[in-house]
Amino acid sequence: MIPIRSSEITPESVYLSRRKFMKGVAAVALSSAALAACGSSPAAPPTPDPAQGTPVPPKASATTDELGDALTPFEAVTTYNNFYEFSMEKEAVAPLARNFQASPWTVTVGGLVNKPKTFDVAELERKFGEEERVYRLRCVEAWSMVIPWLGFPLAKLLKEVEPTSKAKYVRFETLFDQKQFPGQRSPWYSWPYVEGLRLDEAMHDLAILSTGLYGKSLLPQNGAPVRLVVPWKYGFKSIKSIVKIDLVEEQPTSLWMDAAPNEYGFYANVNPTVNHPRWSQSSERRIGELGRRKTLMFNGYEEEVASLYADMDLRKFY
Ligand code: MTE
Repeated sequence: MIPIRSSEITPESVYLSRRKFMKGVAAVALSSAALAACGSSPAAPPTPDPAQGTPVPPKASATTDELGDALTPFEAVTTYNNFYEFSMEKEAVAPLARNFQASPWTVTVGGLVNKPKTFDVAELERKFGEEERVYRLRCVEAWSMVIPWLGFPLAKLLKEVEPTSKAKYVRFETLFDQKQFPGQRSPWYSWPYVEGLRLDEAMHDLAILSTGLYGKSLLPQNGAPVRLVVPWKYGFKSIKSIVKIDLVEEQPTSLWMDAAPNEYGFYANVNPTVNHPRWSQSSERRIGELGRRKTLMFNGYEEEVASLYADMDLRKFY
């Protein structure tokens, strides 16, 4: 996300190190491309499992998404992150997130529901199960990945709390904790991070709450212990480290709508025909690939979700 010119809000030293970092990203892209060219499947190094103390190799049962696109290597998924609560530098997020306490953790679900309830994350997993969903993640910044998530449909949780007939939207909130999230001391954004969905979007089977990826629990940089994943929308809708979910009557204002209302709308559906005011959305860079590929309408999930927006002008409701 680049809502404000980085030179306006960032000391020059940080700005310059960001440029150095971008060169690093190009190097990662190159080495991954080289791997693919050699015909090997994306390799991911074993990572230490804090619970076990022994390395557990990340694994997924799938090797591609439904379009045949290869999974993005675990290494890239867990080191190239947007998580402004830690840092605006993608590469700085994982090191800063290392000691994040994602347990114990509860998610409070309330608002316009008959059965408000606070869930322990372990209870969520026990109650609603865990399935693998391989989804493309398309960031509004025009890069993308293919990620094997673990999680369960958000609809299962919503049905459990019984939304009332007044509920029209779902509002999500990330933990507010300036000790754990140094980025929340930044005055540029109205913390905590907030996102929202229309109720019918939230009930769609593709919308999941994720508790893991590559067969392992989520790492802090990816939004531990539980985050939203809405694959047909730009990545910023997929809010991380959720503590609160409310059913509401009015359309929620997200952090990004509040920060730059002329650039980020409520719907944020991936749409190659509607450009960001400052860059084109017609193509994207798949992390690990050289060159660019065409961006697909609704990120390739058009068949599944287009009916949600049948009577809407998607240029107006962006
Ligand atoms: N959620 C919170 N709380 N804070 C953030 O900064 N960044 C968003 C989204 N969820 C963000 C967030 C953006 S812009 C993207 S592209 C995705 O998370 C990135 O998810 P990933 O780092 O797991 O790939």
